[in-house]
Amino acid sequence: MNHVPEMVSEQPDNGPSLAEVVSLSKRAGFVYPSSEIYDGMAGVYDYGPRGVELANNIKATWWNEIVRKRQDTVGLDAAIVMNPKVWEASGHVANFADPLAECRDCNTRVRVDHLLEAIGVIADDKMELSEINSLFTDHKTELKCPTPNCGSRDFTPAKQFNLLVATNIGNFTGDLDKDPVWLRGETCQGIYVDYKNVMNSSRVQTPFGIAQIGKAFRNEITARQFIFRTREFEQMENQRFVAPDKEMEEYETLRQERMDFFIKNIGLKPSNLQWFQHSKLAFYANAAWDIEYRYPFGFSELEGVHARGDYDLTQHGNASGSDLSYRDPHTGEKYTPHVIESSCGVGRTVLAVLCDSLKTEQLENGERTLLQLKPSLAPIKVAVLPLAKNKSDIVERSQRIFSAISGEFATEYDDNTNLGKRYRRQDEIGTPMCVTVDYDTLEDGTVTVRDRDTMKQVRIADSQLEQFVRDALK
Ligand code: GAP
Repeated sequence: MNHVPEMVSEQPDNGPSLAEVVSLSKRAGFVYPSSEIYDGMAGVYDYGPRGVELANNIKATWWNEIVRKRQDTVGLDAAIVMNPKVWEASGHVANFADPLAECRDCNTRVRVDHLLEAIGVIADDKMELSEINSLFTDHKTELKCPTPNCGSRDFTPAKQFNLLVATNIGNFTGDLDKDPVWLRGETCQGIYVDYKNVMNSSRVQTPFGIAQIGKAFRNEITARQFIFRTREFEQMENQRFVAPDKEMEEYETLRQERMDFFIKNIGLKPSNLQWFQHSKLAFYANAAWDIEYRYPFGFSELEGVHARGDYDLTQHGNASGSDLSYRDPHTGEKYTPHVIESSCGVGRTVLAVLCDSLKTEQLENGERTLLQLKPSLAPIKVAVLPLAKNKSDIVERSQRIFSAISGEFATEYDDNTNLGKRYRRQDEIGTPMCVTVDYDTLEDGTVTVRDRDTMKQVRIADSQLEQFVRDALK
């Protein structure tokens, strides 16, 4: 769900532009276009050495909060490819579509709901096609093709374009139309179809959650805005199974927890976050709110928090013939649990974190690019910087320090170029601490620890470094 137009160029106060984030991502190894040496693959990205660490830290934070720290939630890792009947029962084969039109002059495909939103007309991906087309016709003269140097106002009528991505796994006829198998369009369907197995193999009782992190695939019509909307992406989804009469109460609690998560655990600035309530609901949904982040292109969906009623379990129960009801062990009451979910994109969180923490600071001797990440998310926690590259005793001492701490903390050893440049490199990837090893280290066993944000330096015994870093990262 996304109600914010593609073309908005609202800029957060003092925040970086999208171009600055894209440039840092490539330069510092966070995100690259996929298969770039072959001109890339639209809507698909790779996470580089820094990006994979950042994304892993985000995922570990989510998993810790949602699964490890709770007694009422368990984890799951379902397969990406499922029996195609799953996607028929879930409604995706028939309804998982966005309204697409084509520019008659340059053939660019556009999402009509986004075009309308760009001129301030409320359109929603849950609207009926006829509703979208009548708005499209009403506002025809105000809309134009977003392709640079085109700007045509001549579009085909909107049609529904299904977003499911087909694969030929297990299909040896080569006829994808006849025997389609889908890559999952959302991870939660794996949770619904495994719900009975999880219930029978763990002692969960409502309200309980099943959480999963994994890849999802969608044939997005317009994959733009860097890693905000991609065709291959990762979701972190938590599906909570609750008693029908508790759905809305549990939903409100979940909403509160989710906003708290982004502020406390991910460290996003509250002023860059807001709620958006969907007024047009999918026919089965009881409530749908999005947590939106103020990206450089405007407030847009970071996570969806939905109350889905008993739709999913009822659909899969009916289609599979399995009994997906739940019997309350205390009251004996039998019911189909209602589902409330939180569904977040890893890539959208990475992008929000980069936008929130990237800044440029003026220093006496120039400027520095700084990634002021929450230390727990930083790809590298400590950089060990020997002051002399060719002095074997300093190198040996530095290597020893690296070995002592790198098992516990992501540590980087950097002896390349002058110290100022090495500090700049670490600042722009958000490394909270830099440790320099110099001649004094050999004399008195002390090292200098420089703080990323204040640039203040303290001298401590290298034997205390591990504990110092541990305390600083708390
Ligand atoms: N199970 C519910 C569900 O999938 P959704 O609103 O379609 O709901 C949930 O997607 C989240 O997944 C979004 O808030 C977003 O963070 C992420 N997401 C969806 N489509 C995406 C895409 N094409 N690229 C990156 N992230 C996406």
